[in-house]
Amino acid sequence: MDKNYYITTPIYYPSGKPHMGHAYSSIVADVIARFKKINGYQVYFLTGTDEHGLKIQREAEKNNKDPKEFCDELSITFKNLTKTLNLSNNDFIRTTEKRHFASVNEVWSRLVKSGDIYLDKYSGWYSVSDEAYYDEDEIIQDGAIKKAKSSGSKVEWVEEESFFFKLSAWSDKLLKFYDKNPKFILPISRKNEVINFVKKGLKDLSVSRTSFKWGIPVPKNNKHVIYVWLDALTNYISALNFPKTNDKLYKSFWPADLHIIGKDILRFHAIYWPAFLLAAKIEPPKRVFGHGWILSDDKKMSKSLGNILDPLEIIKNYGVDQLRYYLIKEVSLGNDGSISLLNLKNCINNDLANNYGNLCQRVLSFIEKNCESKIPQPDKFEKIDMDLSEDITKKLPKLIEMIDNQDLNTYIKEVINFSFKSNKYFNDLEPWKLKKTNIKRMNTVLYCILNQIKSISILLFPIMPNSVEKTISSLSLTKKNIFLDEINNQNLLKPGNIIKKGEILFKKIESD
Ligand code: ME8
Ligand code: MG
Repeated sequence: MDKNYYITTPIYYPSGKPHMGHAYSSIVADVIARFKKINGYQVYFLTGTDEHGLKIQREAEKNNKDPKEFCDELSITFKNLTKTLNLSNNDFIRTTEKRHFASVNEVWSRLVKSGDIYLDKYSGWYSVSDEAYYDEDEIIQDGAIKKAKSSGSKVEWVEEESFFFKLSAWSDKLLKFYDKNPKFILPISRKNEVINFVKKGLKDLSVSRTSFKWGIPVPKNNKHVIYVWLDALTNYISALNFPKTNDKLYKSFWPADLHIIGKDILRFHAIYWPAFLLAAKIEPPKRVFGHGWILSDDKKMSKSLGNILDPLEIIKNYGVDQLRYYLIKEVSLGNDGSISLLNLKNCINNDLANNYGNLCQRVLSFIEKNCESKIPQPDKFEKIDMDLSEDITKKLPKLIEMIDNQDLNTYIKEVINFSFKSNKYFNDLEPWKLKKTNIKRMNTVLYCILNQIKSISILLFPIMPNSVEKTISSLSLTKKNIFLDEINNQNLLKPGNIIKKGEILFKKIESD
């Protein structure tokens, strides 16, 4: 079985402050990457910045900066975001790096060689903000301004010499490809959108520009720079050392298992990207998952509405694991999801402070006080004990399947429910009473519940790595034990080993 797994986030435009959408794409990908790792996979997880094109050039001009200098500064902001969000990425690629130029040049040359590129003139609508071409029927008039229907961003008329990619020749081949790979585009609703669009027939795509300079020059014709999306998408193979196709990274990890993206950039990933790759005789990725939009109190976040939730601010006030947990729990991946500070606080209190955090805290405190801080020696297990642990072990294959279907939302609900049931077991079996009547039984109950804390913590690790590492070390275990396999190991916890209670993991948020 192939135990390698390659997952990517979009590479971000380094033009301004990172926002909740960036944080969301990144956290989703990180949760999946970490889960695959604890399931024994060799994981390669890529993120980075998308630095070319007119949008960035204009931003740089607005700031009176040379574009390279502008990107050098802002790319760092995004690199810092990977630290703040505690991402486990293996690499951070910038499209202004040399390794990426080599890769884009090779893709271009292959497209020329296969006869998929020709020189002509482009005239049509272009949105600099989306870096996208739009047809007449995709445009609406809004007062004096013309806008793209889908994104609402302003379009401008472009007329210039341009190289074209023969996308029109790829409609049928793409439809066959989608048919043969029914899970290439997820969720299904998005897949249907894409298929309907392709069925209408695709037009050739302008893939170079001559009216500005900030990009990768077309090989042998540096009057043109390569269209920023052809440039940007190629990052996914540049990071694996393409065009060195015998390179270990490329051989181990291409085709990618999963591109996590937002729904606004689905067309580029689900249509253009596989078409470019098929034309260049490179295998397309296995899956593109288009997540929904993060809304604030049911509305789009915007400065004028004053409803922007800043991820950095939230992390500063509530903690990174708290934000990671909340986003994954609250938003059903694939759909739009509304978030709010009030719901964040409720979620922290209910799921983290009162449920998982309370479970860890009360059990560890009890053992500290009543068992000299040592893992107790269990006696004979009863049915109720076995049922408790089997609840998790029996469901494990299903949980793995959920992550493989990117159903993070159901996963997290299942896991937090285990914690709820473990709290109930503790309440029902009343170890504080057993202490006076049946010490052996008390020890057995405590051992069982510690074992549950271990399993639940492992399952929560991909979502809340910092907090779980603390709990795991409280149990006298190490990072090396954070593997799904250890959930089935009922003897991992060693009686006699020291329990360290540690500080409270999740503080309750008082309402103001
Ligand atoms: O698109 N909710 O970069 P980007 C959820 N450079 N996701 C959101 C969002 C929101 N409110 N706002 C933005 C680009 N996003 C390209 C990618 S990949 C080869 C090139 C998501 O910085 C958006 O859907 O504009 C996208 O997935 C990501 O943030 C990056 O946006
Ligand atoms: Mg965008």
